[in-house]
Amino acid sequence: MGVVAEGPGRLADVLRLRESGRHEAPGPGEVVVRMLAATVNPSDAVTVSGAYGSRTTFPMVPGFEGVGVVDAAGPGVPAAAVGRRVLPLGSAGAWQQYKRLDHSWCVPVPDDLPDDVACFAYVNPLTAHLMVDRYCRPGVRTVVITAATSTIAGHLAELLAERGLAPVGVVRGTPGRDVADPALWQAIVRTDTPGWRDELRAFGGARGVDLVFDCVGGPVGGDVLELTGEDGVFVHYGLLSGTPLPADGPLSRVELFRLRDIVQRDGGHHGRHLPELFAPVFERLRRGRLRTPVETSLGLTELVDHLKGPRAGHPGKLLIDPQR
Ligand SMILES: NC(=O)c1ccc[n+]([C@@H]2O[C@H](COP(=O)([O-])OP(=O)(O)OC[C@H]3O[C@@H](n4cnc5c(N)ncnc54)[C@H](OP(=O)(O)O)[C@@H]3O)[C@@H](O)[C@H]2O)c1
Repeated sequence: MGVVAEGPGRLADVLRLRESGRHEAPGPGEVVVRMLAATVNPSDAVTVSGAYGSRTTFPMVPGFEGVGVVDAAGPGVPAAAVGRRVLPLGSAGAWQQYKRLDHSWCVPVPDDLPDDVACFAYVNPLTAHLMVDRYCRPGVRTVVITAATSTIAGHLAELLAERGLAPVGVVRGTPGRDVADPALWQAIVRTDTPGWRDELRAFGGARGVDLVFDCVGGPVGGDVLELTGEDGVFVHYGLLSGTPLPADGPLSRVELFRLRDIVQRDGGHHGRHLPELFAPVFERLRRGRLRTPVETSLGLTELVDHLKGPRAGHPGKLLIDPQR
């Protein structure tokens, strides 16, 4: 059984449940992973919307993130792989009971990480870790994070705290929504209040903001970009507003970041690098860090119905239990 997007569109409109029997046998170098838990992220909705054009073929099973156990191994895969808990990466397809993929895309999961923690290790924690590692250079003093109520913003704030930095958060002021841990933030600026740009400018001081993590884009992203110092870096890693950054801004300060680019480079047949990439994330998750709040847990049937309902204002992520 799995959830299928018939064609491009909103999750609420194009998903249906596909009943199927047992999985196909794995081919050479492949495994079949029995999914134990999967997640729902903005990148799933963006992909199903058809935004990536020719890169997405429909019908498709969404879900870039999840954890499972290797159920069957094809020719050429070590027999010891069967029974290992893994993150099956490199493609969508987590919203089903069995996912077939090349074994080189499977990252072993430490035994002491529960499924409902391990399933969230990839999209947000790994991205936050890689971005802070890459862009938070010595000398960075002021950091601004847009969509500060998002899950990944919470992770970024935790990782910055390890470096003695407290970011300034930018939020749009949705009622009932707050940053995950207010103690990690220097201040929160609301874009629905007049004068928010001046408030934010004051934190950057004369040299401007040193580092921005922006996943909003559009006019708000553009205004924050204007406040980025001449030597600062504006890391643009999402487009929640659905609108690009204004073309007349100081775009030379913009660095685009996509987890996919790094994983596709290091993954697959070069997959020996993937476990190394995950090591610092697993280590933090084991210490109770970079955790993702869960709104509710749903089986595949319930997921399709749930996504048709109103989505706004819920704290936490949906957790999918594909075997329920
Ligand atoms: N480039 C990469 O490799 C990569 C990797 C991971 C994540 N991301 C991106 O990171 C972003 C956040 O992901 P997440 O999983 O952390 O999100 P999330 O926990 O699902 O939270 C969604 C966030 O989006 C905000 N939001 C939604 N629409 C908005 C708009 N029009 N303007 C401003 N804010 C808006 C919400 O604000 P309210 O609280 O006010 O509702 C909330 O903070 C997404 O864009 C995702 O694609 C990118």
